[in-house]
Amino acid sequence: MSITGIKGMNDILPGEVETWQQLENQARAIFSPFGFHEIRLPVLEKTELFCRSIGETTDIVEKEMYTFDDKGGTSMTLRPEGTAPVMRAFIEHKLYAKDPVSKLYYIGPMFRHERPQKGRYRQFHQIGAEVIGIDDPKIDAQVLAMLSHFFETAKIPDVELQINSLGCPQCRPGYRESLITFLDQRIDSLCQDCKRRYTTNPLRVLDCKAAGCKEATGEAPAMLDNLCEGCEAHFAKVKDYLDDLSVSYRVNNRMVRGLDYYTKTTFEMVTGSLGAQNAVAAGGRYDGLIKEIGGPELPGIGFAIGLERLVLMLGEETAAAERPELFIATLGEKATQAGFTLLTKLQRHGIHAEMEYTGKSLKAQLRRADKLQAKRVLILGEDELERGVGQLRYMDESRQQEADLKGLDDRLISEIHGA
Ligand code: HAM
Repeated sequence: MSITGIKGMNDILPGEVETWQQLENQARAIFSPFGFHEIRLPVLEKTELFCRSIGETTDIVEKEMYTFDDKGGTSMTLRPEGTAPVMRAFIEHKLYAKDPVSKLYYIGPMFRHERPQKGRYRQFHQIGAEVIGIDDPKIDAQVLAMLSHFFETAKIPDVELQINSLGCPQCRPGYRESLITFLDQRIDSLCQDCKRRYTTNPLRVLDCKAAGCKEATGEAPAMLDNLCEGCEAHFAKVKDYLDDLSVSYRVNNRMVRGLDYYTKTTFEMVTGSLGAQNAVAAGGRYDGLIKEIGGPELPGIGFAIGLERLVLMLGEETAAAERPELFIATLGEKATQAGFTLLTKLQRHGIHAEMEYTGKSLKAQLRRADKLQAKRVLILGEDELERGVGQLRYMDESRQQEADLKGLDDRLISEIHGA
């Protein structure tokens, strides 16, 4: 029996990968003028990092992490998200000593043992960005402006930016208590999961998809109505700046995030076209996280975009594979040798050129050139080679000309690079 891949972990094949590359390139090009630098980190971290940052009572830590003891007996976890590892590296390498502000982005795989379905996988990819060291609401608005700009540039249809504030250690505990009191009176209507977690993580009940929980929490108090003065003023400023920057958004006072480190501004890019998996990107402020995991007291804010979901939303509008500039078709051994030399020279000059490597008939070679949608085809026959010429076809223009082989490589290079 042949060996298959792992459920929920997808191969990204040629034909699909071009869209991924395009999105990744777009992210790099958009983030760079905003002052972001790439950071690349291992996919494995010590388990403790995620327990302390994401939170012991979250779904991710309770049931979704790929955790194992390595041969030395240390508990390791395949990263379920990127923020905590970036903060770990930020602290470990004392990046704050070099610059009081760090703007970092990352692109890579994350792992969560969730039930796979459309838009939800066990290995998935995020493009994430984090700003450390600024608590001014201008940066919240700018991060959202950059995220919106990315979605516009990538032409992702039908997305809505939803924002909320989750308060801070001053106002959240009081709100949490009043929410628990509210839920206490409706405990019978809650699902089994929420009955269990409403005292440990009551905010998650607001996010539960079960009909009973939705109904029971319809009138629940909202964090937004219980913010302290500081959080309220911060949120008001974020909205003002978003208006100034013409970033459209909707306030969603029921939005709760699945990770515990959030404070103040939180947000999601939501779509109606992916069923239950409606968040294409999400993030927020995490002002206490760095201190919580042993670093200095510095604020942070960031987001992560789910690449698989973006690709699904782009649907048929996938990036086309690059067409070869030249296909070399040959007849006879000498011509094949000459063709092969020319092929390699062009490739070394950065030109996408192709030929058949195993002696196929001319007809089969031309069929392949067609299939690859080569822009030009050079036909080299034994007799023509003797005369020092070849037939050069321009496929888009349906024209053919006899080409002098002497200096043809340089002429093609300047024609293609000059184009
Ligand atoms: P998150 O909401 O857990 O946040 O994930 C961010 C995005 O990753 C989601 O909106 C979704 O598009 C994608 N995603 C999450 N889980 C899956 C999955 N199983 N399959 C496919 N896509 C998925 C975070 O991860 C935070 N670290 C974001 C952040 C950065 N907050 C501040 N900075």
